[in-house]
Amino acid sequence: MSQVEATAETPFWERGNLAPVHEEVTAFDLPVEGAIPPELNGLYARNGANPREGHSGHWFIGDGMLHGVSLKNGRAEWYRNRWVRTPRFNGAPRRPGVPDIRSSVANTNVIAHAGKIMALVENALPMTMTRELDTIGFQDYGGKLDTPFTAHPKICPVTGELHFFGYGFVPPFLTYHAVDASGELMRSIPVPTRASTMMHDFAMTSGHIVFMDLPVVFDMPAAQCGTMPFAWSDSYGARLGILKRGAGIESLRWVEIEPCYVFHVANAFEEADGTIVIDVAWYKELWRGGPSATGFDKAFLKRWRIPPGAAKAQEQKLDDRSIEFPRVNDSHAGLHHDVVYAVDTGKDLARQR
Ligand SMILES: [Fe+2]
Repeated sequence: MSQVEATAETPFWERGNLAPVHEEVTAFDLPVEGAIPPELNGLYARNGANPREGHSGHWFIGDGMLHGVSLKNGRAEWYRNRWVRTPRFNGAPRRPGVPDIRSSVANTNVIAHAGKIMALVENALPMTMTRELDTIGFQDYGGKLDTPFTAHPKICPVTGELHFFGYGFVPPFLTYHAVDASGELMRSIPVPTRASTMMHDFAMTSGHIVFMDLPVVFDMPAAQCGTMPFAWSDSYGARLGILKRGAGIESLRWVEIEPCYVFHVANAFEEADGTIVIDVAWYKELWRGGPSATGFDKAFLKRWRIPPGAAKAQEQKLDDRSIEFPRVNDSHAGLHHDVVYAVDTGKDLARQR
C-alpha cells in the first residue's frame, strides 16, 4: 500500500510502521511463510489511527482503520483493511469542547464480545463491525448506554462478562457498566469523583473493579482548541477507587497512590489474603502545561499492592526498561499472571520527546 514520503517535519505517528495507508485492500489466499497451525482458526483484527487525509494533529485523533486477517485450517484466507465509517468519517462536523458520544473516530481498539465485533475509542459509543470489517453502526445496548465506552474494557474469562467504564466532562464524570455474557447491559453505576480526569484504562480482578483517578485533569482552554482537553495538576493528587464486582456504590473505597499517570494496565489479580495486585505502565507525570503532540516520557512496569483495609498502596518498580502497551494472555484477565508482554519503547517513542 502506498505511503507518503516522510520529511524531517513528519511526526512519528506518520512515519515508518505508524504511517497511514491510503487504500482499502481486499486480498485472498495470502502467501504464507512457514506454516500456520491448522487449529488456529478465526479473525485477527487490529485497530489504529489512520488519518484519511494523511495527517492529524496528534497520534490519538486520526480516523480509525481496522486491519484483519482471516485464518482457516492452516490457510490465510484473506486480508482486508477498512476505515471505520463513523458519522465524523462520513462528514459530520466536529464541535470542539462539546461532548457527543456519537461523534467518534473509533481508532483505539477492537474487541469481540457476545457475537459482536466493536471498534472503540474512549469518548464515544462502540461502532459494531462485520467480520469483513464493514461498519454496521453504534452499539448502545438497546438504548441503555448513554456514556462513552473505554477503549480498554475487560472480559472476565470465568463469567464471560464485559466490564467497562465511560468518562466525560460533565457529572457524573465516571460511570461503571457491566454486560453479561449474552450481551445484555446488566448495571450502570455512577462513580463520584472530584473532577473529570483522563481515564484511559482500569483494572479488573475476580472480585473487584479498580478505577485510576489520576492528576491529568480536564482543561477548558485545551478543549476550546480542539486538542485533548487535559493537563497535569500538581494539586489533584492520585488515588485508586476499588468497587466490589456485583455490588453497589456503597462498596467503593479509595486508596492513595503517589501522583503519576498510567495509560495502560497489564492485569490485576487478588492474592489469597485479599491483597489486590495491579501491574501498570507507569509515568512519573504526563502533560505538564497541556497535551504534548511530540511524544511521551518513559514509562516503566510498576506494581501496586493493596492489602485489605490499606489506605495507601505499596509501590514497586518491577523493571528498568521503558515499556508500553503491557498485556497478559487474555485467559488470565483478572486472574494470577506470571508473565507480562510489553513493547520496548526505549529506542522508539521515548526518542521522540
Ligand atoms: Fe490504550
